Amino acid sequence: MNRQSLIIDCDPGVDDAVALMLAFGAGEFELLAITAVGGNVPVGKTARNARMLRQIAGREDVPVFMGADRPLRREPAGAGEFHGAEGLGDLTPFEPDAPCADGHAVDAIIDLVMTRPARSVALAVMGPMTNLALALRKAPGLAERLGPVAVMGGARSEGGNITASAEFNIWADPDAAAEVLASGCDAVLFGLDATHQVRATEQRIAALETIGTAKAETAASMMRFSQRIEREIVGWDAPPVHDPCPVAWLLKPELFELARCHIRVETESDLTRGHTAVEFREAVAGTLPHRWATSTDADGVFALIAAATGAAGTI
Ligand code: BDR
Ligand code: CA
Repeated sequence: MNRQSLIIDCDPGVDDAVALMLAFGAGEFELLAITAVGGNVPVGKTARNARMLRQIAGREDVPVFMGADRPLRREPAGAGEFHGAEGLGDLTPFEPDAPCADGHAVDAIIDLVMTRPARSVALAVMGPMTNLALALRKAPGLAERLGPVAVMGGARSEGGNITASAEFNIWADPDAAAEVLASGCDAVLFGLDATHQVRATEQRIAALETIGTAKAETAASMMRFSQRIEREIVGWDAPPVHDPCPVAWLLKPELFELARCHIRVETESDLTRGHTAVEFREAVAGTLPHRWATSTDADGVFALIAAATGAAGTI
């Protein structure tokens, strides 16, 4: 099988954890690295959580690199109320056997992409885009070498989830998102318009719980935690499961509808900080270098998660 080389940049996070379980079990990927960034919880915890999750999944072959501990020019902001104080919901933290790999996440991204054929390495970004922005600053030419950059981030029709206008990942480091989107890389954004269609219903969680593997149990426990928290905070019975979307798209693009567009990020206004202005009209935007996910086959995404976390471990 011709496997897709992939780097996952993340801030686990309960839905990051589901995305990691999906990626760990998908034989279609050559997982080059997980790069951790400060986001939902501080980077020391997101890097530890990534190491915990790879140990649970039996994937210590995948190196974890620690990355940026703060946004480019903002104070760090967390989302512990949605992920738990340690970031992984009800999962009790433990010190994993294997440490982080030597070196910084930014250098790992640069080295892994620049030493492989152009456009051959995909990135799935599911936290604030600080690591990638720093890598693009440090390595001129990186944008052209990257394969698809599949991002969980952005708010348009659905409105925001951290403010009226903005989605958390973009809001947390809007300057990084603006730089990445202006870099010329092949960015595909899975914002709330798409991810709010991917809901962990009672039936879907219960189905995962019957699989009986560590990967499936972990994914289901993240969703159970979200179900409880989102009921309390937002009043939703079926919480959205955001971060698996970019990974699912890399596995099975036909599960998503995408539209070409030009996306810019509000970085100056306090009121609308982090809003993603998604322009579909070429006559207005000049060029349409990005793609925006407009709809999702949620059953298809959950089928991928079930297959990847199942006994065989591959899809
Ligand atoms: C995004 O914000 C984070 O809290 C989640 O992990 C996800 O990446 C959703 O807005
Ligand atoms: Ca995340």
